[in-house]
Amino acid sequence: MTAKKSKTAAAPVGSLDETQAEAEITRVIAAIVAADEAYYNEDRPEISDAEYDALRRRLLLVEKKFPKLKRKDSPSNKVGAPPSAKFEKARHAAPMLSLDNAFNDEDVADFAKRVRKFLGLGNDETVAFTAEPKIDGLSLNLRYEAGVLKVAATRGDGEVGENVTVNALTVADIPKTLKNAPNILEVRGEIYMAHADFEALNAGLEAAGEEKFANPRNAAAGSLRQLDAAITAQRPLKFFAYAWGEVSEDLAETQWQALQRFKKLAFEINPFTKRCKTVDEVLSHYRKIEETRATLGYDIDGVVYKVDRLDYQARLGFVSRHPRWAIAHKFPAEKATTVLEDIEIQVGRTGKLTPVARLKPVTVGGVVVSNATLHNADEIERKDVRKGDTVVIQRAGDVIPQIVEVVKEKRKKGARKFVFPDRCPVCDSHAVNEVNPATGKADVDRRCTGGLICAAQAVERLKHFVSRLAFDIEGLGEKQVASFYEQELIKEPADIFTLKARQEAGDIDLYRYDLDDDGERKRDKSGNEKPPTNAKSVENLFAGIEERRKISLERFINALGIRHVGETNARLFAQHYGSIDGFYQAAVAAAKEGSPAYEDMLTIDGVGALVARGVIDFFEEPHNRDAVDNLLREVTPQKAKAVAASSAVAGKTVVFTGSLETMTRNEAKAQAQALGAKVAGSVSAKTDLVVAGPGAGSKLKKAEELGVAVVSEQEWRAMVAH
Ligand code: IVH
Repeated sequence: MTAKKSKTAAAPVGSLDETQAEAEITRVIAAIVAADEAYYNEDRPEISDAEYDALRRRLLLVEKKFPKLKRKDSPSNKVGAPPSAKFEKARHAAPMLSLDNAFNDEDVADFAKRVRKFLGLGNDETVAFTAEPKIDGLSLNLRYEAGVLKVAATRGDGEVGENVTVNALTVADIPKTLKNAPNILEVRGEIYMAHADFEALNAGLEAAGEEKFANPRNAAAGSLRQLDAAITAQRPLKFFAYAWGEVSEDLAETQWQALQRFKKLAFEINPFTKRCKTVDEVLSHYRKIEETRATLGYDIDGVVYKVDRLDYQARLGFVSRHPRWAIAHKFPAEKATTVLEDIEIQVGRTGKLTPVARLKPVTVGGVVVSNATLHNADEIERKDVRKGDTVVIQRAGDVIPQIVEVVKEKRKKGARKFVFPDRCPVCDSHAVNEVNPATGKADVDRRCTGGLICAAQAVERLKHFVSRLAFDIEGLGEKQVASFYEQELIKEPADIFTLKARQEAGDIDLYRYDLDDDGERKRDKSGNEKPPTNAKSVENLFAGIEERRKISLERFINALGIRHVGETNARLFAQHYGSIDGFYQAAVAAAKEGSPAYEDMLTIDGVGALVARGVIDFFEEPHNRDAVDNLLREVTPQKAKAVAASSAVAGKTVVFTGSLETMTRNEAKAQAQALGAKVAGSVSAKTDLVVAGPGAGSKLKKAEELGVAVVSEQEWRAMVAH
């Protein structure tokens, strides 16, 4: 939520007469409809979220003051996502992950070192990598069964994507049948549009008086996600294969061979892929690709390196959402110069005050940029950014644009330093720099102390609650939830789940009706009131909400918006505690530092004092406990499944000590976790198993004292072998 009124809020509503108000309503509705269209249906957002929110607020205000002018098509009580959400869902047999990024040579060298260290390789052993262009399109999973293309699905949230099979069948580069392929084969790759095709498509759209696409990536996404496959068929989409999902038999022994196999199966593979034996070789291939970039004829945004040996890939596995065996080396961000018109302060979900630069719109790499993040007060100070300055901005991939530097020579006389506010611009509570318990240092971020009384925090929490990796309710996006909050239909998450009951009890009315000139509901010829115009979308919304009454524990914990507990930590907590009661009780009991519950929380690999503090603070706040209690009356978080319930070590707490001989400590840990075990750093009565190698000392002794089972590395390997 942004504090300052943007230019959309022209004259104060109080000063408008009826004629002006009517014109204002027409103007604002047109702007909202255009923005919705661009955002949902064309993969081409045109205005910032803050500007969009301001428009919606403005409309509500005018309508409140002039209820008679409220139009029947007013978007102010519109419910439900627009038609692009109408593809069937497709659950991926194997999750579609993303890649970690490297931004310079050092990051690449570190990646190679991490790989070697994890595998425990000696200096004389080489690790080969493949290096291939990172195509700037959208990824697609193609599932073939018995050689026939059965399902094509977009990435979605990585677990569930959109079923776009009919559209994919129209793409020439995608084989419809395969010969000599494994019975089950999922080929993954990138859908993209070549520059020349993009230009021609845009020229055609322009001639037809339709809106053009901002860049080839958007054009590819917009073309693939057409509800009418006949339109997709006319769009010149292309496809490169580079990875795979489920396979019923091994494809090859190396990444390189797997690509060759794809080629034999009639897929396009990128011709600039190279097998490299050293980091130097990898980097020189990167430079070569960078040089050819401008003449390739399609957009790429970096080079992807993958460990070539597939047995190494299997050992390296995944961390959170990234494979440990691959990395994307990004090209340097594109830059542009523009004028900083204003600095606004936004208040986020956790109360963080973030300065945002409002820029004179400028095109960077094919996208119009009008905002850039300034991070925090320190950053403004360090770069000495002032209102009216000419600034250099850069934009890398999907990341929010940044201000690189100020062009000091162009600074106007009298430009004054920016004074960072010490009060929240939304609720006027004090804003402070908290002290980090782990370091004892004051945080660089200033936060509003208003908690839930701060409207900005409340609304941002709700937006987070419905976001993709949290409750992800069909028909209830961030914008709708914010609009419901503004209309006071929803104050806290539990209210989402009582909407239907309140509607049925007549406490609220989500329906939109055709009104006559007197503001009465229109009637049909027999004198009956006409049904609401948005009945279908309200029903869809209710159905979407009902579907989420059962929710995975990790999504539930993530949705709470606890500080420092995002997707990854939510998963750790879900796995460690297994149930919401377990987590809730532990969080309350851990309030005392040094208590057994606190110590136990810190045994979770990846959870430190800062994260624990976030959890404790959250549950110490009565408002938050109430909100969770209310929510638990409405929804049921499912008990967390052990990752591999069938494994011999699932659910067990394991401690590794001493040196290991056939794998590194990290590899052992990752393997145990993948099999559903918890790995702890110290031995306690809760430990189920200690794996002791040569040189084990105090931990082994403690295990013996406590009577905890102790096994050797060989015995461990036998236990986990499948
Ligand atoms: S490999 C497990 N190779 O980049 C990783 N991805 O940030 C599988 N991408 O979602 C991806 N070119 O859409 C891989 N040669 C390439 C790629 C590539 C583009 C995209 C892909 C992925 C994203 C990861």
